[in-house]
Amino acid sequence: LSSIRVDVSGVQTGTQLTVKWRGKPVFIRRRTQEEVDMAKEVDTATLPDSNARNANLGDTAMATDQNRATAPEGAEGLAAEEWLVMMGVCTHLGCVPLGESGDFGGWFCPCHGSHYDTAGRIRKGPAPENLPIPLAAFDGESEIILG
Ligand code: FES
Repeated sequence: LSSIRVDVSGVQTGTQLTVKWRGKPVFIRRRTQEEVDMAKEVDTATLPDSNARNANLGDTAMATDQNRATAPEGAEGLAAEEWLVMMGVCTHLGCVPLGESGDFGGWFCPCHGSHYDTAGRIRKGPAPENLPIPLAAFDGESEIILG
């Protein structure tokens, strides 16, 4: 009952759709190759939070870009890496971070200055954890089911 379907067929590369789910914003971003490359370059050992925080994976999954992205079934290359689905709720005190902002090209929370990278991982500031990834899966190529 709490699942919703989101049509993402109109989301262009380099843009983000924000939907409301269970009363909270969910960011669905279709990343550019550059954004994906930036996220993949990072050594997870250097992250403030090295856990993927991905409800679709086990508790111990590392915060690699692959473990943060949501891939359509059978997708390859950029198509398998470009989608990022995550809660738009700062893990510090719950403000909504701004997209395409901050020192790491991802999201910036203006409330107390937390910087998230292009995989939604906390990189600088008071937020303790990466932006959480909810239960989410593609159904076909253009619909995402949340929950
Ligand atoms: Fe985001 Fe404090 S709520 S930095």
